[in-house]
Amino acid sequence: MSAPRKTAVVTAAGSGIGRATAELFAARGFAVVGVDSDPERLAELAKVDGVVTLLGDVAEERTNGEMVDLALRRFGRLDVAVLNAGAGGAPPLEDDGAIAALDAIHAVNVRGAALGIRAVVPALRAAGGGSIIVTASVAGLRGDPYTWAYNTTKAAAVNLVRSAALDYAYQGIRINAIAPGLTRTARTAAVLQDAGRADELTRRIPLGRWADPEEQAEVIWFLASPAASYVTGSVLVSDGGLSASNGLFLPPTAEPRPSS
Ligand SMILES: NC(=O)c1ccc[n+]([C@@H]2O[C@H](COP(=O)([O-])OP(=O)(O)OC[C@H]3O[C@@H](n4cnc5c(N)ncnc54)[C@H](O)[C@@H]3O)[C@@H](O)[C@H]2O)c1
Repeated sequence: MSAPRKTAVVTAAGSGIGRATAELFAARGFAVVGVDSDPERLAELAKVDGVVTLLGDVAEERTNGEMVDLALRRFGRLDVAVLNAGAGGAPPLEDDGAIAALDAIHAVNVRGAALGIRAVVPALRAAGGGSIIVTASVAGLRGDPYTWAYNTTKAAAVNLVRSAALDYAYQGIRINAIAPGLTRTARTAAVLQDAGRADELTRRIPLGRWADPEEQAEVIWFLASPAASYVTGSVLVSDGGLSASNGLFLPPTAEPRPSS
């Protein structure tokens, strides 16, 4: 009998980076369990060959447990977990509802990631080791205006990854974060539709463009793959150079540049 196919769980798989990741892993031979809280997006995802779907909110412990149960029941093993769900959108700190929003965002970006790691570790251990990738953000590396709760919780997710990586390294479980920069997804569609705002942001990206979700999926694939066998506790930045600058970056012009 042939060995069971390698299996990945991917959260927030109904759209954007998660969807591209689920499709990439399935295209490269993985069995995939895709989790999302949006039933319509999930119905679309279910049409992808090699993907089974689970409706649920990653902030709930039950969803994380069901995700692992489904992977083991349908495919017999678990090798990779892509904990990709993220939430944002808090009002300014002084406004009504700011702290309730922080709690809700924390529930997805930190609690959800912690619940995910907790749920998948026993199955990865049983497979003899495995890889967990948490989708953080460049927002977790520095501050940004008006996104204090998102940046705070993404920073916490980064240190969750570093700390958990230390705890599970000896069990052969690698845990890393991807820190995407500006990426064309449903989350950023409103900004992209505002041509002035989108141009202003694009000017700050050294590569001069936003990422496609498929480019982030390739980075996640690398972190999950044997090519990254010595990589754990790391944060792989995939942001077109955005966070490399101290803020002085200006896009090239036809004008002569000052010499250093
Ligand atoms: N798009 C960007 O520019 C960007 C940049 C940096 C980091 N990120 C991070 O990448 C991840 C994916 O973002 P995206 O831009 O691909 O988003 P997206 O809006 O395209 O898709 C997100 C999906 O997650 C699902 N979802 C939301 N909350 C959920 C929950 N609690 N449980 C289960 N599913 C949930 C939604 O239904 C949706 O299908 C997030 O963690 C986000 O913070 C995105």
